[in-house]
Amino acid sequence: MIILSVETSCDETSVAITKDGKEVLSNAVLSQIKIHERYGGVVPEIASRAHIESILYMFDEAISTANIKVSDIDLVAVTQGPGLIGSLLVGINAATTFAYMHKLPILGVNHLIGHIYAPLVENDFNFPALALLVSGGHTELLLIKDHFEIELLGTTLDDAVGEAYDKVARILGLPYPGGPVVDRLAATGKAIYPLPKPFLKDDPYNFSFSGLKSAVLNLVHNMKQRGESFNVEDVCASFQEVVTEVLVEKTRHAADSLGVNQVVLAGGVAANKGLRAKMASRITNQQILVPAFKYCTDQAAMIGIAAYYQVQKYGMPTSYFIKGDSSFSIDEVKQY
Ligand code: KG4
Ligand code: ZN
Repeated sequence: MIILSVETSCDETSVAITKDGKEVLSNAVLSQIKIHERYGGVVPEIASRAHIESILYMFDEAISTANIKVSDIDLVAVTQGPGLIGSLLVGINAATTFAYMHKLPILGVNHLIGHIYAPLVENDFNFPALALLVSGGHTELLLIKDHFEIELLGTTLDDAVGEAYDKVARILGLPYPGGPVVDRLAATGKAIYPLPKPFLKDDPYNFSFSGLKSAVLNLVHNMKQRGESFNVEDVCASFQEVVTEVLVEKTRHAADSLGVNQVVLAGGVAANKGLRAKMASRITNQQILVPAFKYCTDQAAMIGIAAYYQVQKYGMPTSYFIKGDSSFSIDEVKQY
């Protein structure tokens, strides 16, 4: 089954061609980072307009790179949510028009499920599995009982991990998005600054990162006020040490107590080298599934992979009406 998939939930315009939920024939991604950089974050209205300008080129690029004919496509899949509603609507309208023109069925896919299915390019699920989903908007522990039977165990009570990375980067005067920069600088720094470790001991599945972010803000502010020189790399390393410790230890504890077979690490922050290394060294009782770097951040291939399994489970969709849903929950399967 050849699927053309579309992802425009935030600031990446992406169209991919995937085959049978495994092979990625093409994955065209256009990032808007350069456009939003000067604002220090994604501006929703600007994101929607940028998607409109580039989406048709991404269709062309995905189809020509995959070296297929439009008549080879069996299904169109598109991110239905969660995400920025204006951005979602651009992808949904483009995908629906393409499907209608070529008399193809169209399927709405949950963006978060896409992230969790991204590692299946190289692996298969062995249920039950536990997923740690970490991105700019989400920090979730999820129990995957079967395909599309996902239970939300816990989430962040305040900031998402990626958001905390981006804010710490801003405190340190580093460019947006801060996650990759903090990760790179942390590799050469030393974790010498004491920061609070938000384990939420009586709350094993939930997370909280806003106190940690404020502690970094205070640390930097106080050092500046005292006129002390400090090493940015050491602040990054100290922050990353705490974040990865909390994420990995809470995941390890949940995986062991729930007796799962696999631990899935997914979402943009899954690209973090420190997190990947700590996961690999600490989680030894389960198989770890981590997507290749290029499938961690937002792109359409993951939507095509998830769509394949969604169709295996629920059959081909019949409706052309995909309703964009900015707060589409991961444990909710849309009727179609
Ligand atoms: O999944 P994603 O592309 O978009 C959302 O759905 O949010 O994740 C983007 C987030 C940003 O906050 C970015 O700073 C973070 O993922 N990120 C990282 C790294 N690469 C991306 N955070 C920490 N370390 C990284 N290497
Ligand atoms: Zn994402």
